[in-house]
Amino acid sequence: MSRLEIRSVSHWFGGLQALKDVTFDTQDEILGLIGPNGAGKTTMFNVISGFLVPTRGEVHFDGKPIHHLRADQTVRLGLARTFQIVKPFATLTVEENILAGLGMPYYPRSAALYKLYRTPESLKMVDELLSTVHLNDYRYLPAAKLPIGLQRRLEIARALATNPKVLLLDEPAAGLVSQEAEELALLIRNLHSQGVHIILIEHNMRFAMNLCHRIVVLAQGEVIAVGTPAEIQNDEKVINAYLGQE
Ligand SMILES: Nc1ncnc2c1ncn2[C@@H]1O[C@H](COP(=O)(O)OP(=O)(O)OP(=O)(O)O)[C@@H](O)[C@H]1O
Ligand SMILES: [Mg+2]
Repeated sequence: MSRLEIRSVSHWFGGLQALKDVTFDTQDEILGLIGPNGAGKTTMFNVISGFLVPTRGEVHFDGKPIHHLRADQTVRLGLARTFQIVKPFATLTVEENILAGLGMPYYPRSAALYKLYRTPESLKMVDELLSTVHLNDYRYLPAAKLPIGLQRRLEIARALATNPKVLLLDEPAAGLVSQEAEELALLIRNLHSQGVHIILIEHNMRFAMNLCHRIVVLAQGEVIAVGTPAEIQNDEKVINAYLGQE
């Protein structure tokens, strides 16, 4: 059974149709979502993760409809995401950001609540997550002090803290130098081998083509192709709409 099914989803922002009858599903894979700027990729993530209710169509997760659920409800079911524009809690430390992913409330930050959430178990989870994303050395720094590449990894750790079955990554390699991108690819492969399904929006074609098992191509809100990286690279519609412009 597909873990996530997008069924005929359309979405309008006023008069602008950002998604047009989009249908695809995820298998046990790293799935890429690519397409030109404004194609509707982030809007699709917003619909899947409960930040937007689609104007039309349905999203099913593990066989159940989820398109009317809020973001906090989809997280509890096992869907986690990162953002195209990184959104760590800037004044909190790296450790506190991850504790937030583990359920520690951001406000109010009372001493009593703080103590309640900094249990040996949660701190052990933080240890593990910091190791997973190689951020152990930055644990007590405010998130805003990290360079962009490390903030992206922190976002992934915070998303992983919710113990997701499906992880949605919105342009995780943006702004990374090639070695950082290679480390990130390794991290994503490891997560997938541990059973996390991944959907990845990416403009870095080399990164996406090397990493993804299958790719969905959106252009002007419509799915114009679905296939393996090799199929996508040779698809005329994709070359005309997107790859040809590179
Ligand atoms: N909140 C919003 N209100 C109005 N229009 C929006 C909103 N969010 C997105 N759009 C419009 O919807 C279309 C799809 O935007 P979206 O951000 O999903 O594209 P994208 O594929 O993620 O692009 P990019 O590669 O630049 O991130 C664009 O025309 C965008 O301007
Ligand atoms: Mg986007």
